[in-house]
Amino acid sequence: MDNFVTKNKTPIWFMRQAGRYLPEYRKLRAKEVSFLDMCFNSKLAAEISLQPIKRFNLDFIILFSDILVIPYALNQKVDFKEGIGPILDPITSIKELNFKNLNSCLEKLNSVFQTIQILKEKKKEKKLIGFCGGPFTVLTYMIQGRSSKTHSKIKNDIKSSRKKLLEILEVLTELSIYYLNRQITEGADLVMVFDSWAGILDNEDYEDFIIKPNKIIQETVKRENPKTPMIFFPRNSGEKIFDFLKYVKCDILSISQKYSFKLLELAKKNNIILQGNLDPISLVNGGEKLDEEIKRIMEDFKDHKHIFNLSHGILPQTPIENVERTIKQVREFK
Ligand code: CP3
Repeated sequence: MDNFVTKNKTPIWFMRQAGRYLPEYRKLRAKEVSFLDMCFNSKLAAEISLQPIKRFNLDFIILFSDILVIPYALNQKVDFKEGIGPILDPITSIKELNFKNLNSCLEKLNSVFQTIQILKEKKKEKKLIGFCGGPFTVLTYMIQGRSSKTHSKIKNDIKSSRKKLLEILEVLTELSIYYLNRQITEGADLVMVFDSWAGILDNEDYEDFIIKPNKIIQETVKRENPKTPMIFFPRNSGEKIFDFLKYVKCDILSISQKYSFKLLELAKKNNIILQGNLDPISLVNGGEKLDEEIKRIMEDFKDHKHIFNLSHGILPQTPIENVERTIKQVREFK
């Protein structure tokens, strides 16, 4: 892994940095009916990926796409509705999805690979992050059909139909591996696995639905692409993060709101780069509290290899000036 992060250099980017808080994104979005069409329009997707770079000169580009292109590639119906979010025709078994084989699924994602090619031609000097969702996080949307606060459906199904869910999870894991490997072949410099709902599971469910698929993805992608750094984000794992790290060899760990100094020590011992962890709400609210938070983070991580980021995606109501203020303070921090 090359030296894009050292103890004296803290690069910065924001999860969901290409999105609705940017007026230039909203302008393009207003012209399109379908969010997925935007993701699959390579020229447009490349332009949107570069919007936050042009405005803020951030240190990383993240591919503009979504984690739910994977169920789409598996022939599930996926839509995004204003004010609601993703809407999928929920499934209960992999047999309901009439897909031929994983290679044919990748063909449905060809335009994503073209976006990567455009980005690599346009911006050779910036590192490009490719991504996929954690298989469990993607599974929750496939089973529930939409976002859920309680996740009661998937939790019940884990109890009543565990085997069927594990079958779907296995397909998602395999497709995610193909997908990430291909993104790297096309030019992604790093890849990130967003397991946003990792924190809702405990014990053997966490082991089977979070640790195992992330471990298989890590080992298999690494075997094919040993030089590509991999970022993992098992969000809100709490104390279970120590089990996660025992099995999943992260190059970079994106950390959630709560973390312990024990985690920092372990990361240092294992040479893991830490990414995080400003609360997106602090970024919305701004003011002195934001300054204090930034300072606290820079102090906490000053003896570590650290990439400044949020603990979750940037919120649509985030004021641009707070983003600018954060970047300035991180870059000027001594
Ligand atoms: O980070 C980036 O800028 C790259 C693009 C990106 C998007 N989604 C674009 C997007 C990435 C990396 C994602 C990841 C993603 N998508 C996750 C994991 C990270 C997280 O935030 O937890 C999840 C769970 C999804 C699924 C998803 N996509 C939801 C729940 C929603 C609706 C809620 C929301 O934030 O709007 C989306 C839609 C979405 N994905 C938008 C964008 C820019 C907004 C769509 C619009 O403009 O209408």
